[in-house]
This record gives sequence, structure tokens and C-alpha cells, in this order.
Amino acid sequence: MLPMGTISRGTRLLGQHAAALECCSVLCRSMSSSSLRVPPPACMLRPLEVPFRYLFGPGPSNVPPRVLAAGGRPIVGHMHPETYQIMNDIKEGIRYAFQTTNPMTLAMSGSGHTAMECAVFNTVEPGESVLVAINGVWGERVAEIAERIGANVHTLVKAPGGYFTNEEIEKAISKHRPVLFFLTHGESSAGLAHPVDGIGDICRKYNSLFLVDTVASLGAAPIFMDKQKIDILYTGSQKALNAPPGTAPISFNERACQKMFNRKTKPVSYLLDMTHLSNYWGNDGKPARDYHHTGPVSGFFCLRESLAILAEKGLEDSWRHHREVAEYLWKGLEDLGLKLFIKEKDLRLPSVTTIAIPDRYEWRQLLTYIMKHHQMEMTGGLGPSIGMVMRVGLMGYNCSKFNADKALAALEDALKNCKKHKA
Ligand code: GLV
Repeated sequence: MLPMGTISRGTRLLGQHAAALECCSVLCRSMSSSSLRVPPPACMLRPLEVPFRYLFGPGPSNVPPRVLAAGGRPIVGHMHPETYQIMNDIKEGIRYAFQTTNPMTLAMSGSGHTAMECAVFNTVEPGESVLVAINGVWGERVAEIAERIGANVHTLVKAPGGYFTNEEIEKAISKHRPVLFFLTHGESSAGLAHPVDGIGDICRKYNSLFLVDTVASLGAAPIFMDKQKIDILYTGSQKALNAPPGTAPISFNERACQKMFNRKTKPVSYLLDMTHLSNYWGNDGKPARDYHHTGPVSGFFCLRESLAILAEKGLEDSWRHHREVAEYLWKGLEDLGLKLFIKEKDLRLPSVTTIAIPDRYEWRQLLTYIMKHHQMEMTGGLGPSIGMVMRVGLMGYNCSKFNADKALAALEDALKNCKKHKA
């Protein structure tokens, strides 16, 4: 029996549906006397429904209540002083997370891809040489982006899971003399954390800028922008930072600024032009910030909160924690008889683990089973790793041994209940 004045969720939804239908039919009846020829869509008259899912794939991750609450704060104007203060705080938080003192630090309005395009669009001009290390999907993307702006694109290619030695990188850089060399630190499509030490020095020797993607690794695996002589570094909000997708931290050092602010041509994108964005983020030394675009104010609140969580926990603690949970997961996977795709432990990405597709199983069937019976997202490969791996991501808020046990139980259940092919 429900207490007086209380209605069940089902009754409330039925009531809302009935009201929506009534509203729809009234609107349709009045259409004949109105100037509108397209009626309000029935789906828009139903309440928003979002299921709960365990997001144990490569991202986005589940978001802590504190970050969700930050996103629910009242909107303020994108050019109000309070918003500028929040943007200034974000810049400090990014500098800490990237381990840099670069003044030219900001967050893009958009996902990691926006930061990827911003880096390439601003530092490369048509006809210039670019070298891209490809050992998964992200290098493929950067090569395509650079090609679209008319760069002379060279690639260093390995199969997913492969990595490049500093000797191989130096050989290719000395041959192609690129203005920009791109490397993915956290290759989420293969589950690889690429070594970075020494590459910044090679880039300086040949006057190339060193661009690094840490979308899947920031906060989960160590990276030191200044110490490792990385000229441009970017990440996304939705992985170990565990904010919703939609903002992307990026930082440029003095070398990168020299190149991008001394161009002969304008970057192809107005939205991503750093001459405007540096002013919008208060980085160009001018007394006033001008209107450029309307930033995602709620996304900035969330990003600020997620960077605050990282600052409170401490980067080293966050790296240690991700590694510890990853090792626990790796052991559990091996105990289930599964094989890890990246053999060398030190090259494994702690945030996204790749499992070789188990013999005689259909990976799609396993993942569909896990989603259906455990409301849990794990994913297959991406780009060149499709059909090679299944991916389990435990990052940020999701990074715990408790969640690793949940993921392992779901996999064990799927292995028991999904059909094997004949040998
Ligand atoms: C996206 O970032 C992915 O790795 O699937």
C-alpha cells in the first residue's frame, strides 16, 4: 500500500504518457487552423528516459555524483566574470594534470577530436611535412586530418599493439623533417601505453613539434608535459577525468606558440583558430576577452569539478590506483583463461585493457550478452583492432576492485553461456 499522496513511478509515467497523447491530439486538431505543417513529434512529448549502465568500456565512463551535480548548477553567461574565473581555475587544473607551466593552456569546446583538430589545424600549413605514428585508430585519424588540410603526410605504421623505438622514430624524423610528429600515449584501440621518454629531444634536434594524445591515459598513467619536452598535449574529459564528454583540455608550449602564431595562412577553422581561442581563454595578454563562441558553460562546471577531484586525490595517487586496479583485473582475466592482448606488462594501458578474442567465441555475442544480462558496456576493437580485441575500461570513478570483480563476473557468465564455434 502506498502512503497517501504518493503515486508509483509507473502510474506517474502512464499519466505523463496520457497527457502527452492528449496534448498531441489537441495540437494535431489545431494544425488545420495553424501555419504549421510539421506537427510536434510524438517522441518529444514523451519524458526523457536514460537507463543506468555500467560504462566499463573505453569511455565515456560513469560520472561521480559530485561532477553530475556540478553540471546541474544554474547557467551563468559564458562571458560573465564568474565563468572567466571558472575557466581560469580549469587552466590551473589542466596545468597540474599535464605537469606543465605553459600559459597557453585551455579547454576546447568539444570532444578529444576537437583538440586533435585544433592542434593540427593551428600548427601545420598546407604543403608542410607531418609524420604520424600509427599503431591504432588515433594515428589514422590524425593522418586523415592532416591530409585534409593539404599537409604532406608521412606515416610510421605498426599493427595494433606494436610500438615504436626511439631509433625508428629518429630515422623517420630525420628522413621526413616534419614540422609536427604525432604519437598516441594511450592507444585505447589497442590498450597500449606508449613510452614517451627521449622523443621530445629527438623532435627538438630536427626542429619538429612533438604532439601527444593522452585522451585515454591522462590521470591513469604518468605523463609529464614539460619534463618530457612535449610541445602540444591534449586529452578528453570523459575518460579517467570522469566528466561528461564535451570538453577537451589542451596545452601548447612556447615552441608550439612560435609556430602557430607566425603562420603565412589562416587556419582553416574559425572555431578552432588559436588566435581567437587564446583571447577567449584570457591567454593572449590583452586586457579584454572578446566574444568568439559560446562555450559549454555546464561542461566547464563539470570539467572544473573533475579536475578538482584529481587535485584533491593527487596525480601520483591516481596513477598508482589505476595501475593497482588494472593489475587486479589482468590477474582476474588470466584466471578466467583469457589472454591479454598486450603481452608486456609495462606497455599495458592501465585505463583500458584489451583481451584477445577467446578461441571459438564470437566477440559480438559475448558483448551483447554482457550488455543484456549485466547492463554493462564493454566494447570490441576500434579501427584496425576490430575483430582482434575486446576492451574493458575501468577509469576514474569506475576504477575500483569492486568494479573489476563485477566486470570479471560478467565475463565469466558470458563465457559460460555464449555458444562456442566448432573447433
Ligand atoms: C574511444 O575513445 C575508444 O577508444 O573507443
